Amino acid sequence: MGLAVAVAGVARTYVKGLERIEVLRGADITLAAGDSVAVVGQSGSGKSTFLHLLGGLERPSAGEVTIDGRSLYARSPEELDVFRNRQVGFIFQFHHLLPDHAAVDNVAIPGLVARLPRAKARELATAALHRVGLGHRLQHKPGELSGGEQQRVAIARALLLGPGLVLADEPTGNLDPRTADEVMSLLLDLNREQGATLVVVTHSLELARRFPRVVRVVDGAFQEAA
Ligand SMILES: Nc1ncnc2c1ncn2[C@@H]1O[C@H](COP(=O)(O)OP(=O)(O)OP(=O)(O)O)[C@@H](O)[C@H]1O
Ligand SMILES: [Mg+2]
Repeated sequence: MGLAVAVAGVARTYVKGLERIEVLRGADITLAAGDSVAVVGQSGSGKSTFLHLLGGLERPSAGEVTIDGRSLYARSPEELDVFRNRQVGFIFQFHHLLPDHAAVDNVAIPGLVARLPRAKARELATAALHRVGLGHRLQHKPGELSGGEQQRVAIARALLLGPGLVLADEPTGNLDPRTADEVMSLLLDLNREQGATLVVVTHSLELARRFPRVVRVVDGAFQEAA
């Protein structure tokens, strides 16, 4: 099931030496369970910061992030760890796969973190790789896969434990246009199939247009884009 997300009055300020960088300022946004949203905006506008705040990776300087009606950052560190492991699937521009591990072992990692038996984690990983079209690449290491295949492995890993929230930060930034289109289709299909709330940052307005909702980060806040 997808998670409902509410971001209310969120600010995030970084202090670097004498400089204060106000990345987000009074940002508000609500996502219903199962929504799929593209996030666009200039470089440095705060898109990655937004994903980190949603995923329990970075605390807001002010304001509240609420997930399914519960404040995210009021949770204990242990609860936050469980939330990140079980409920959030992260996908990045660079796949961050372990280079000396086969695809199936990379995908199984969140299962091992969740203390599933190794055989169960591998079984889930095998099924996830089949779902992303890589049933024939289980034993390939990342260096033996194409860029698009590597990103599919990263998607399979993110989806292993059936997260309620999938956060992807420029997942196609490193791919040629056709492969980018295919990877975005996969994310959209999985969102429809599995119902996890999906937030994807992209620099491509063309890819963003494929989403039912597009949000732009401007001056530290969100604008709904037409
Ligand atoms: N840990 C940090 N310390 C200081 N400043 C930071 C930190 N993280 C991000 N920033 C600054 O916050 C601003 C927003 O960064 P963020 O990574 O969210 O932008 P972005 O919209 O994802 O950009 P891009 O499209 O280039 O990825 C940038 O100016 C960045 O330099
Ligand atoms: Mg970024």
